Amino acid sequence: MLDVDENKHSGGEEPLAIPKITNVEYAKKLAMNKDKTKKKDYFGVLVSPKTMRALSEQRPHFRTKTLIKMNKDVGFNMFLFSINTIDIQNQLITGIYYDYSDGKWKKDIFPYPDFFYRRGGVAKKYKKRYKTFQYQLKKKKSSLLNPSPLGNWDVYNYFNKVISLEKHLQKSILYKDPDTLFDMLEKHRHIYLKGLIGRKGKNVVLLEQLPDNRYQFRYYNASQKKIQTVTFKKKEDTLKFINKFYKGKKFMIQEAIDLLKLNKRRIDLRAELQRTPYGTISICGISARLGKEKSPVTTHSDAMTLDELFKFLKLSETEQSKLYIKMENFLNKVYRETENKFGKFAEMGIDFALDQDYNIRFIECNSQSAKVSLHKAYGSKALEKSMLNVLLYAKSLSKRKATKKK
Ligand SMILES: Nc1ncnc2c1ncn2[C@@H]1O[C@H](COP(=O)(O)OP(=O)(O)O)[C@@H](O)[C@H]1O
Ligand SMILES: [Mg+2]
Repeated sequence: MLDVDENKHSGGEEPLAIPKITNVEYAKKLAMNKDKTKKKDYFGVLVSPKTMRALSEQRPHFRTKTLIKMNKDVGFNMFLFSINTIDIQNQLITGIYYDYSDGKWKKDIFPYPDFFYRRGGVAKKYKKRYKTFQYQLKKKKSSLLNPSPLGNWDVYNYFNKVISLEKHLQKSILYKDPDTLFDMLEKHRHIYLKGLIGRKGKNVVLLEQLPDNRYQFRYYNASQKKIQTVTFKKKEDTLKFINKFYKGKKFMIQEAIDLLKLNKRRIDLRAELQRTPYGTISICGISARLGKEKSPVTTHSDAMTLDELFKFLKLSETEQSKLYIKMENFLNKVYRETENKFGKFAEMGIDFALDQDYNIRFIECNSQSAKVSLHKAYGSKALEKSMLNVLLYAKSLSKRKATKKK
């Protein structure tokens, strides 16, 4: 075992910068040797530097623990790392792995993995390094299990050209100038502004034109954990607010879906889908998310199973199965079309909704779902299954690769 420095920063913001591999040649040789003589494929999980620090302090997140637990029987050589622990020049990674024999998280130097699973974001200043890393992985013929992020606008823009999906889409445009914004607002009265990237509803604002013609913004303030409402009379002030909110970053404008509601709480759905070892797509679970009262986003609150939602909607058995089949078809189409454009994915989290007439409306695709709602609605067994599915799918690819080599 190589002894690698803890290398903690005093600043704290970047706890685990690239550790200095003092004897590079030796480390390289060792890692290459490991790669050649390995009995099991390497499965590298990219996490945030914060998660890495927690691991090096033996404080794993429960989702990490679940993944490790699921890998025990599947048996990949699994390690976790963050963007700042990759040594691009030498193609080595300082990672942390779980030692099942004594229950400790330990550091080691690894070769580039055979399977790459992205679970944490990459800060802007590392974008270039990440690009190089991805390029190197592809060259090495590693499998990228979630090959790219699924930007809101990129996906919409593509789906707009897919005839069978068109009917599930809300009218959406990229913000260009104030006129396009106020035109959309005039037409739809309720519009959502959404950052091109973002998660947990952080870059999402509902803008309404009230009956007295004032402009009202509603959004969820994550740091204060509350719903904020801001109202303006003038267009100028409305625009000023938007500029401040998006800080000059691009955003899209989307017609609001007339979401189902339960006691003033908005409802939408999150489906977790995965590829099976047989190459088919399976739905691991569809959860209904119930927003906080008046919240424009359904995240940060409660989730229930689809059966519970159906019960609440008082649907007959026939109506339930009809609706379920529709959802299934829709989700499969979304998955396959996303793959058409962005490459093959081991899994995908799909946000969608039912409007008041039970029409299926598309919201967004996620390439690295945290599966919070699946866990809330269906419990830890479902979460475990979703992770096992990813590992089993990778295993099937690994077997296929091995047979090809023979
Ligand atoms: N067009 C829309 N109509 C109604 N609700 C929406 C719309 N777009 C987004 N939302 C609500 O906002 C939430 C967050 O939006 P989403 O596009 O999924 O962004 P994020 O990436 O932050 O999750 C959705 O789950 C949904 O509740
Ligand atoms: Mg979402």
